[in-house]
Amino acid sequence: MFSGNRASQVFVFLLLTIAEQWTQSSASDTLLGLEWFRPIVHTPVGCFRGLRAQDGNYSMFLGIPYAKVDPENVFGPPIPHRFKGIFDAVDDTSRCPQIEEFNHTITGTLDCLHLNIYVPNSASIDNPLPVMVQIFGGKFQFGFAGRYLYGPRFLVRHDVIFITFNYRLGPYGFMCLNTYKVPRNQGLKDQVLALRWIKENIRYFGGDDSKITVAGNSAGSISVDFHVRFLQEPLFNRVILQSGVILTKQLFKDPDPEAPLKLAKQLNYTTNDINDALSFLNRVEPHALIAANRDTGLVVELCVEKQFDNADNFITKHPNNINIVRDVDVLIGFNNDEGYVAVTTMKKEKFESEDFVSLLLDRDFKFENERKLYEIKKIIRNFYYGDDVPHADNRRPNMNLYADFSFYSPILRTVRKYLDSGLDNMYLYMFSYSGERCFVKDKDNVSYTEGGASHADELGYLYDISYMKERLRDEDILIVDRMTELWTNFVKYGNPTPKPTKLIPLQWPRVSQDKLPYLEINTELRLGSRPMHERMSFLDLLYRHIEHYQRDKQGVNYETGNYIRIWS
Ligand SMILES: *[C@@H]1O[C@H](CO)[C@@H](O)[C@H](O)[C@H]1NC(C)=O
Ligand SMILES: *[C@@H]1O[C@H](CO)[C@@H](O)[C@H](O)[C@H]1NC(C)=O
Ligand SMILES: *[C@@H]1O[C@H](CO)[C@@H](O)[C@H](O)[C@H]1NC(C)=O
Ligand SMILES: *[C@@H]1O[C@H](CO)[C@@H](O)[C@H](O)[C@H]1NC(C)=O
Repeated sequence: MFSGNRASQVFVFLLLTIAEQWTQSSASDTLLGLEWFRPIVHTPVGCFRGLRAQDGNYSMFLGIPYAKVDPENVFGPPIPHRFKGIFDAVDDTSRCPQIEEFNHTITGTLDCLHLNIYVPNSASIDNPLPVMVQIFGGKFQFGFAGRYLYGPRFLVRHDVIFITFNYRLGPYGFMCLNTYKVPRNQGLKDQVLALRWIKENIRYFGGDDSKITVAGNSAGSISVDFHVRFLQEPLFNRVILQSGVILTKQLFKDPDPEAPLKLAKQLNYTTNDINDALSFLNRVEPHALIAANRDTGLVVELCVEKQFDNADNFITKHPNNINIVRDVDVLIGFNNDEGYVAVTTMKKEKFESEDFVSLLLDRDFKFENERKLYEIKKIIRNFYYGDDVPHADNRRPNMNLYADFSFYSPILRTVRKYLDSGLDNMYLYMFSYSGERCFVKDKDNVSYTEGGASHADELGYLYDISYMKERLRDEDILIVDRMTELWTNFVKYGNPTPKPTKLIPLQWPRVSQDKLPYLEINTELRLGSRPMHERMSFLDLLYRHIEHYQRDKQGVNYETGNYIRIWS
């Protein structure tokens, strides 16, 4: 009896192991718990042995190196990676060098260009699943792709493959120099290599490479906007932009061509030669370089690239001077109180000494004439403050001012730019739920019972954040279910509400040249139209009026000589 049972178990086990190798079968992960009963995927760039997830019916392939940082030139172009034999894809903890945002410690190594793939058991070569790739945010200075923040559990339930990856940050990813060795925007070029890797290899994991959605939040969303505008290769079909577009912040600052000299000096190496400084910095321990970058206060930025022979050029013009050539489906939106945490947590003295109007206006505009500047600022002050002056006990006017200039107007102008370029399958959302899983409120210790949804708060409702496992009250579950259903419907069908369901009992119309409908996501789902239309109309009129005072930044338009159009 006993031995008969055992024999059949072993037989079933062998069959399953064979099936596993070829089809990613959906056999129970706990069957025997043996080490070699692990999913293996063969691809032209290597074999990857992953893990069975314990919290759902899916497999994980963690820490796959999609590219390498060139040890001879750590600030230069990434090198594609391939290897022989079997790679143990079990570690999602790598990070590129950075000051991380949770404990503010310097962390990370240059062995960091890795991706994590989460594959539902239903995926196979015969049943390929749509793919959702997530680009993390963090001001192009911090962030990492592991399950610490981007846990896949809520998304993979909906039968999509989910992927996250690291890219270089700060001085390693975004030094803007005039040398062919560092042809600029390396972090974005890391992203392009990751997307290329996914397009070429995801089918071996049971992915459908004709249905790839690239999603991003904040700086990740800004990255997505770059890929929509600049990437000529058809590496994806759909995009999700959460609270970030190129226009949302001042990118394209004048690059500091002396950054390497300043960094080297901070590290006690004095030279006047950029290449000499670079070869010194190349050997510096990454944590020391990150510290030096912090101590010199150098700003790393994206920038328009000089054209160098043999360099892989990406951003060759100012983004507003480019015509979007590829057709993609778009899900785009924002949270209803983007500025809440940033403005709430400002120290009282800083809040009261900061002139928000000047800060936001001077960022994009330059007036030759003091009188004109004074008039414009007065109109803006009257609009937001009436006859009051901002004070720390009433921060609401500045929250709106900041959010309007930095998020809502730029995002809605981008919607218009996309429409004008012919992208017509586009859905607009406003996320307004504030609960225990709000990511930034929680991180910055701001009570979720006040204010609306702040910047990046939605992350807790898409991802299984490792330190929020217990926070799943009924309302939070409802919002997680709605967000992940809408997002993955879009990934699968290019339409977030293909048919009404109990969970989402409505159909969400797309935007058009005439109408700007949007879905407000909360415990009640609500269809609205033209979000914040009074404030946005004010900004539209303002921008039209002062359009010709836009800053003409050095280094931005030497290619075309065109005016930089903040207004598009
Ligand atoms: C995994 O699949 C089994 C069998 O279909 C199902 O009963 C179970 O609920 C699934 N688990 C999760 C976490 O979805
Ligand atoms: C921050 O510190 C806590 C407590 O030491 C630790 O559990 C957590 O992993 C750290 N977070 C990061 C991102 O390193
Ligand atoms: C640079 O030199 C100063 C003065 O000797 C010293 O205090 C500092 O620690 C040095 N910095 C580094 C990064 O070695
Ligand atoms: C978070 O805020 C609460 C209430 O304002 C305060 O009591 C607590 O000390 C804060 N925690 C941290 C870690 O700052």
